[in-house]
Amino acid sequence: MLKGKKIVVGVTGSIAAYKTAVLVRLLVKEGAHVRVLMTDAAKEFITPLTLATLSKNPVVSSFTKGDMGEWNNHVEIANWADLLLIAPASADTLARMAHGTCDNVLLAVYLSASCPVVVAPAMDLEMYRHATTVTNLKTLAENGNTILPAAKGELASGLLGEGRMQEPEEIVAFVKKKFDHKLPLTGVKAMVTAGPTQEPIDAVRYISNRSSGKMGLALARELSRQGAEVTLISGPIALEPDEGIRTIQIETAAEMHTACMKIFSGQKLVLMAAAVADYTPIKPATHKLKKKDNNTAIELKPTTDILAEMGSKKKKSQVLVGFALETNDEMANAKSKRKNKNLDMIVLNSLNDQGAGFGHNTNKISIIDHKNRITTFELKPKNQVASDIVDKIIQEYFS
Ligand code: CTP
Repeated sequence: MLKGKKIVVGVTGSIAAYKTAVLVRLLVKEGAHVRVLMTDAAKEFITPLTLATLSKNPVVSSFTKGDMGEWNNHVEIANWADLLLIAPASADTLARMAHGTCDNVLLAVYLSASCPVVVAPAMDLEMYRHATTVTNLKTLAENGNTILPAAKGELASGLLGEGRMQEPEEIVAFVKKKFDHKLPLTGVKAMVTAGPTQEPIDAVRYISNRSSGKMGLALARELSRQGAEVTLISGPIALEPDEGIRTIQIETAAEMHTACMKIFSGQKLVLMAAAVADYTPIKPATHKLKKKDNNTAIELKPTTDILAEMGSKKKKSQVLVGFALETNDEMANAKSKRKNKNLDMIVLNSLNDQGAGFGHNTNKISIIDHKNRITTFELKPKNQVASDIVDKIIQEYFS
């Protein structure tokens, strides 16, 4: 969970600072990259050398560094961090944070940080329950910081009560939970079709179209990024799907039909982005057809409209999204395709828009939803178009 996460640990002047050694060690063991900030008071309780060694990074405790006096390391550190964890946070540091005082590098990083901030207070019990501390903690929570309340127990003063910093193991468990936000499509089974189909004329020739499969692949990738379990059913394309996306390769419309219907009933979400042939040769020759001097014709029969069949069999809980590529009467055609095929949504791209459609890296789409509401987007790279489509689906059906 913490693998590759960048965590800045701020250490302030409290006896609980000795526990920070274990905290840093545990975070590093979990795979996090850790950088430590110390106030001068913190150095009275634990040495920078200990924390530098355990974090595998130099400890920062002043604004400036080296002969050139780099003065803006607080900005760099704040931008680097995925999380700022202040543990232990003394009563003094809490007060300064609550009031925006900025006279040490830890406070400057705090004010510069846009990442989440977690604070683990540690102090004696009277200090902890003092009205000023209580107000400061309330202000910090209202400002969007997460407070890990101090625990009850024996304190360094010998007194018993609230004020102990939470144990390093508990802090790490909390931090792990914080990074474990569920993705919006976690557990959702999604099927995406992509690319063209190839309809054989004879042993060496086929009828196909110019679909590159880029849009379908971008959709599969985006759905997977949002947590979905994606199956991609793809016609012959030059691109490699991402690892982790289960891919079924087909050639003909009939094969795509069989592959789709095999898994359709188990899918929660289906995006039919493939350019399926509408016709296929009635009798493809098993050998190579010989050239003749006169005109010739290939007799074609319609293929099954896979999307329409899925629309007619669809359960209420399933979300079915179709695509329409049009050259004229775009909106009217797309609207009637959505209705006739019983779709929850249809994505229209018009070949009249420059940069949209087959082969391009960009696309310009409109989405028509089940209430015939239209959302139109700008011309964008296909991966951004994919994220617009997936965002719209999440917004309508998964949030
Ligand atoms: N589609 C399908 N099976 C087919 C043909 C199309 O599932 N045999 C799907 C496409 O994947 C797309 C949608 O139907 O999601 C619309 O495809 P399109 O070619 O735009 O429309 P058609 O319904 O084939 O109608 P026309 O070609 O006459 O515009």
